Amino acid sequence: MGSSEDSTGTVRNILDQDTLKWVFVGGKGGVGKTTCSSILSVLLSQVRSSVLIISTDPAHNLSDAFQQRFTKAPTLVTGFNNLYAMEVDPTVEHEEGDMSDGFMSDLSNSIPGIDEAMSFAEMLKLVQTMDYSVIVFDTAPTGHTLRLLQFPTTLEKGLAKVMSLRSKFGGLFSQMTRLFGVGDDFGEDDLLGKLEGMKDVIEQVNKQFKDPDLTTFVCVCIPEFLSLYETERLVQELTKFEIDTHNIIINQVIFDEEAVESKLLRARMNMQQKYLDQFYVLYDDFNITKLPLLPQEVCGVEALQAFSHNFVTPYRASIVRGTLEELEQRISTLKEQLKVAEAEKDRVAKGKQKV
Ligand SMILES: Nc1ncnc2c1ncn2[C@@H]1O[C@H](COP(=O)(O)OP(=O)(O)OP(=O)(O)O)[C@@H](O)[C@H]1O
Ligand SMILES: [Mg+2]
Repeated sequence: MGSSEDSTGTVRNILDQDTLKWVFVGGKGGVGKTTCSSILSVLLSQVRSSVLIISTDPAHNLSDAFQQRFTKAPTLVTGFNNLYAMEVDPTVEHEEGDMSDGFMSDLSNSIPGIDEAMSFAEMLKLVQTMDYSVIVFDTAPTGHTLRLLQFPTTLEKGLAKVMSLRSKFGGLFSQMTRLFGVGDDFGEDDLLGKLEGMKDVIEQVNKQFKDPDLTTFVCVCIPEFLSLYETERLVQELTKFEIDTHNIIINQVIFDEEAVESKLLRARMNMQQKYLDQFYVLYDDFNITKLPLLPQEVCGVEALQAFSHNFVTPYRASIVRGTLEELEQRISTLKEQLKVAEAEKDRVAKGKQKV
């Protein structure tokens, strides 16, 4: 990737930053997180040795985007030799009887989110051993994402609590073994070892998530009030958690040429312009990438590849309003519409005569 190329208005800065290990993609529901994270992973696979994309959204739409079934184990994406995908469920699957005893339910009640945090930590631990060059997260809508990023802290707190419970309840502690998936033949010391090991992973990951050389968060949004508002909230929370963010993707933008003849589209375009202006004012130190609203969904590898063009080259309307070319095109479209309307009028008039 030539550094001389202009990266303004594109996601090239992410492709160029070869130290990145974790790329989170998040935003409000339905704005295009799965589409954008999938395309980012495709683009990264062109410049990195190996890429893993993980969906942490229980609704799992990576399978829809790539038109391929994925599971909780990394699976090679068809047509690639270095791009893998997996879908994990952030809500922990309880083994039968796990929560039936009082101690366990007490524990998870007293530390909200501990079971989710545990499964997230297990997943990160697994992924870290796999040695991918970069890992892209397609996250669930905003609220959930932020909770996910707090998991390391939640878990650290949880572990401290577990330790104090252990000293209180002694023998009962061995019942914990099931939560961590170790067999009955494991003693308390093994369990403690496992917890300690987990703590190391958590601390390590916590540090990595806060290192802007290793981690960045890409905010996806659309040019509407609620999305602007939600993006601001997201950016503030990320700042609070010390997680780097300097890319915003504004999806579903209606460009001038599309709105030429439609009153509705023109009105929406003006509405969008108002929020686009605000995005540029609020985030002038961010890399902002605008993506056009397409007439169709982005489904399947081919569609993803085709749309990926707009991630690395700023979108330019092929026709500029007010030019001779544009006026000629508008006149010919209007003539075409006039013809259709006249034909329809004739048809209706004939129908009336018959009645
Ligand atoms: N620029 C676009 N033009 C047209 N369709 C788009 C565009 N971007 C995304 N889509 C389509 O919109 C739908 C929602 O996109 P996507 O699944 O990426 O959103 P999401 O933010 O992941 O949603 P969710 O919050 O439900 O996970 C999909 O069908 C996708 O193909
Ligand atoms: Mg999605």
